[in-house]
Amino acid sequence: MDNITLDEVYRRGRAMLEYQNIPDAEVDALYLMESVFGTDRTSLILHGDRQADSELCRRFFDCINERISGRPLQYIVGTWNFMGYDFFVGEGVLIPRDDTETTVICALELLKNYDSPKVIDLCSGSGAIAISIKKMMPNANVTALELSPDAIGYLKKNAERNSADITIVCGDVATDHKNYDDNEFDMIVSNPPYIVSNQIDTLQRELSFEPRMALDGGSDGLDFYRVITENWASKIKPGGYLVYENGEDEHEAIAKIMLANGFTDIRYDLDLQMFKRTTYGQAGMRLQAVRALTFL
Ligand SMILES: C[S@@+](CC[C@H](N)C(=O)[O-])C[C@H]1O[C@@H](n2cnc3c(N)ncnc32)[C@H](O)[C@@H]1O
Repeated sequence: MDNITLDEVYRRGRAMLEYQNIPDAEVDALYLMESVFGTDRTSLILHGDRQADSELCRRFFDCINERISGRPLQYIVGTWNFMGYDFFVGEGVLIPRDDTETTVICALELLKNYDSPKVIDLCSGSGAIAISIKKMMPNANVTALELSPDAIGYLKKNAERNSADITIVCGDVATDHKNYDDNEFDMIVSNPPYIVSNQIDTLQRELSFEPRMALDGGSDGLDFYRVITENWASKIKPGGYLVYENGEDEHEAIAKIMLANGFTDIRYDLDLQMFKRTTYGQAGMRLQAVRALTFL
């Protein structure tokens, strides 16, 4: 494709996405321009009349066609920004979502009076939560636990990319609690799979590119909340926190699971769309009393 300006390339790409009803066509075309040509919105305005390199043009329109096929923008670009940090993403790992920033902000707020808290992020995926906490609280001792070997590959690269000194464990939340002492953590934070199994195939096309094991929360979406709360409650120090990200209508059910497992002061934080996105509570004294009785 010869004699075509950057501005024309952008307009054609955007029009192709719009014609195929790709949501956010303008934003996606701009991201792909930046990824392929290195031109952000400002440089497109300033230098849009420059000739576009023909090899880069071919690459750009390949990306546009991939996007039209439904492949998420983030996988095409290969990196995504979360909490101000860049994360590698691709098939095999969940793309960090804006909603999850609500959970990280909640966790950091709860930890603000700690000097060097011990934190574990269960179902860590790309490491978005664990790495952001470590970056914003360098004294924290942070572990990221994840089962998928593909996701672990991204987690390791992301920790390195962001110079985040965290412990990375390939493990299963259903069994790995046995490797930790009671009262070991000041906080357990988790964004586990939480979509109801039979709803996954009815959701937006892009989700079919993401790993099913990152999404599937069982027949009511709550399997992981039950397993994690029951298995890991005793690993939190009295007064320490369990912080969950959850689906739009799951807060009340998760609060009940947490109450049944001795947590107190259970609250929620709203995301930008005003959904109860983060559920959190404190490991209470009742739990300690139960443990003491068990010991006797
Ligand atoms: C919803 S994703 C969250 C990823 C990341 N924490 C984030 O917020 O972007 C859930 C993650 O749980 C992982 N996972 C699924 N089953 C697991 C298990 N039994 N033990 C540990 N991790 C698991 C998936 O591979 C996936 O990375």
